Amino acid sequence: MLKQPDAPRMIEVQDLHKSFGPVEVLKGVSLVARKGQVISLIGASGSGKSTFLRCINFLERPSRGRIVIGNEELVMEPRTDGNLHAVDARQLMRLRTQLGMVFQNFNLWQHMTVLQNVMEAPVHVLKLSRAEAKERAMHYLSKVGVSEKMDAYPATLSGGQQQRVAIARALSNEPSLLLADEPTGNLDTRTSIDIMGVFQKLNDLGMTIVMVTHELDIAQYTKRMVVMRDGKVVGDTLVSNRLRAETELRRLQEEEKAAQLTS
Ligand SMILES: Nc1ncnc2c1ncn2[C@@H]1O[C@H](COP(=O)(O)OP(=O)(O)OP(=O)(O)O)[C@@H](O)[C@H]1O
Ligand SMILES: [Mg+2]
Repeated sequence: MLKQPDAPRMIEVQDLHKSFGPVEVLKGVSLVARKGQVISLIGASGSGKSTFLRCINFLERPSRGRIVIGNEELVMEPRTDGNLHAVDARQLMRLRTQLGMVFQNFNLWQHMTVLQNVMEAPVHVLKLSRAEAKERAMHYLSKVGVSEKMDAYPATLSGGQQQRVAIARALSNEPSLLLADEPTGNLDTRTSIDIMGVFQKLNDLGMTIVMVTHELDIAQYTKRMVVMRDGKVVGDTLVSNRLRAETELRRLQEEEKAAQLTS
């Protein structure tokens, strides 16, 4: 069992603020994620969950605060637009490759096959050879259980399969931290548990995950719940009796079988 206080910090965010015009959406959010944790960020719609995740990844520029990834602080300076800008584009790029991002709506490139989607960043960002990138892509596709779909186009896949591909694509950079915004948002219950099973398997192998969800029952599959309200963290608790996806899927299957027998 991982002793949490001893595990290294994968990310530390301090007093993060974000305003859109006059509206302050994040009002000083701090979070430390340690190696091996799976954190769910929960909270009502509009509480700032996505904005927070997007600021961590610098898809959105924060207005104030500090972001440390691993042991390295992202160097930022305030500009006249009221936001912090990264000072060194190369540092930003380097730190960003340590973060994998999974979006709610998968965001796969529709004109590319599954394999091409997953090879894209290793070839163009990490500059791996095509052969190395292909080997890596196949490795992660098989890890999330969709390698047989390597030549398919995203539109021909189910939602759950597309989300698996999106997770493989995020993993293909070999990030130290996986960020996911509502990874089960568009999926039915069984597929949602299935995706949580993928995350649990990755976590068992050492991956640290921060995911947004507004579903409390999905948060029960994570190890720690951080609750946001109106742009602030208002709760931070460990999940006791964490659900295991494998067990819950088996239970669902048995329930369905029993229902069929009695009908
Ligand atoms: N680009 C933007 N411009 C202006 N306002 C924005 C922008 N992005 C987000 N907001 C506002 O910031 C607030 C927080 O939005 P955010 O998307 O972070 O919430 P959320 O907690 O992820 O909600 P949900 O559960 O609905 O996804 C909302 O009031 C939203 O309208
Ligand atoms: Mg959101």
